[in-house]
Amino acid sequence: MTAKYINHNFELKDQGTSNFVESDNFARHRWYYYKEGFSPNLVRSAIESRELTSEHMILDPFNGSGTVTLTAAEQNIPSVGIEVNPFTAFVAKTKTLNTNPKVLSKLFEETYENAILGREYSQLEKYSTFTELSGKDKWLFNLDVLRSFYGGYSYLENHRSNASKMLRLALINSIMNVSNARKDGKCLRYKSAWKELKFSKNDFLIEFEKHYKKIVEDIEHTIIRSSSKIYNSDSRSILKKQSSYFDLIVTSPPYLNTFDYTDIYRPELFLGKFISSSEELYKLRLKTVRSHVQAKWKTPKSDYIDSLILKDVYQRLMSNKESLMHPRIPQMVLAYFEDMKGVFYQLSQKANKYAHLWMVVSNSAYANAEIPVDLILADIATKHGWKLKEIGVLREIRKRKTKYSPDIDTLRESVIILEKK
Ligand SMILES: C[S@@+](CC[C@H](N)C(=O)[O-])C[C@H]1O[C@@H](n2cnc3c(N)ncnc32)[C@H](O)[C@@H]1O
Repeated sequence: MTAKYINHNFELKDQGTSNFVESDNFARHRWYYYKEGFSPNLVRSAIESRELTSEHMILDPFNGSGTVTLTAAEQNIPSVGIEVNPFTAFVAKTKTLNTNPKVLSKLFEETYENAILGREYSQLEKYSTFTELSGKDKWLFNLDVLRSFYGGYSYLENHRSNASKMLRLALINSIMNVSNARKDGKCLRYKSAWKELKFSKNDFLIEFEKHYKKIVEDIEHTIIRSSSKIYNSDSRSILKKQSSYFDLIVTSPPYLNTFDYTDIYRPELFLGKFISSSEELYKLRLKTVRSHVQAKWKTPKSDYIDSLILKDVYQRLMSNKESLMHPRIPQMVLAYFEDMKGVFYQLSQKANKYAHLWMVVSNSAYANAEIPVDLILADIATKHGWKLKEIGVLREIRKRKTKYSPDIDTLRESVIILEKK
């Protein structure tokens, strides 16, 4: 029984390690607020528990904003991160770069001048809801803010240096801070009284200078000596091509909560020119783990489910279809675990003897029942190359009750700790 491995008194319980809040206190980690990230302290605990040195190798197959790769690099341990979203992979990579503060300062001055001048016109102005020129009654960025952003961003496009990447990240961070909308769960929500806030070019420039100052302070105090390789790719297909073998894998896959990260980070993807059309966005969506229902991904196989807990959950969802917020949820649940089964197998093939895998995940709620995602994942992992050590409870996440799950107001978030068989 997998449930007996749950540790309700886990040492990291209620320490804030499963969310990104703490990261704002740490140099370099604070260069981009990634709501879906976890804390460097969780990664440090995993590293300490294995007593790793610069001779070892760490992997994160769902690297997000790069908490694992940056923490490993800070401790001089080589690492590999894989992240499917090109914007997020850019954040992860940029946080591990070094540059000369004088070079950065000069480039900042030039970029700032160009941001003051702004751009006459940018392609995004009439696209979707990016500005008021799109003819919509709500828009993400006021026109002079967007033009100022592109004044700076276009200037940096002629530069390939590390300093230029840091400033591009600062520009994206700054414009998002003066957006009329903010991230709220799975969508962007307009700020209350956003029209009265009247974010201006000046507000944007103040943000830019603020972010630049943080970066200068951090590069002066933290020099990254160890290399981390970050691949912008789909873990489900690239893992088998990895030439390295790993001693520790610390990761947090997308949760089974119908959130589509490519949608949440759509403004950044377009602003930074990581993608330029909705077709490209759709293609990217198809490369992500099947934890959402927005894309028409390949139908999973339902005839072979190798976890009894999952079988039970699937049958329950199928017989409660009318209580689901979307008819494809049972398919999504199967598809998610099918993807994760492949990931566990591939990871076991790339793990050294005695390697450990820490996987942070939260449970989900559908049709008024909690789905024990941690137990199902642990169950599947043990059939695909891993031995279960424990499931450490990190916290009970408070959840808004919904009409689909009116009785569920908390969900367990935990770390599944496994050892290579
Ligand atoms: C929970 S977040 C990880 C956050 C990370 N621990 C951090 O601290 O920033 C999960 C990440 O998995 C990425 N992802 C989704 N599908 C993927 C895939 N097929 N291959 C690689 N990464 C993927 C998402 O874009 C997202 O950034």
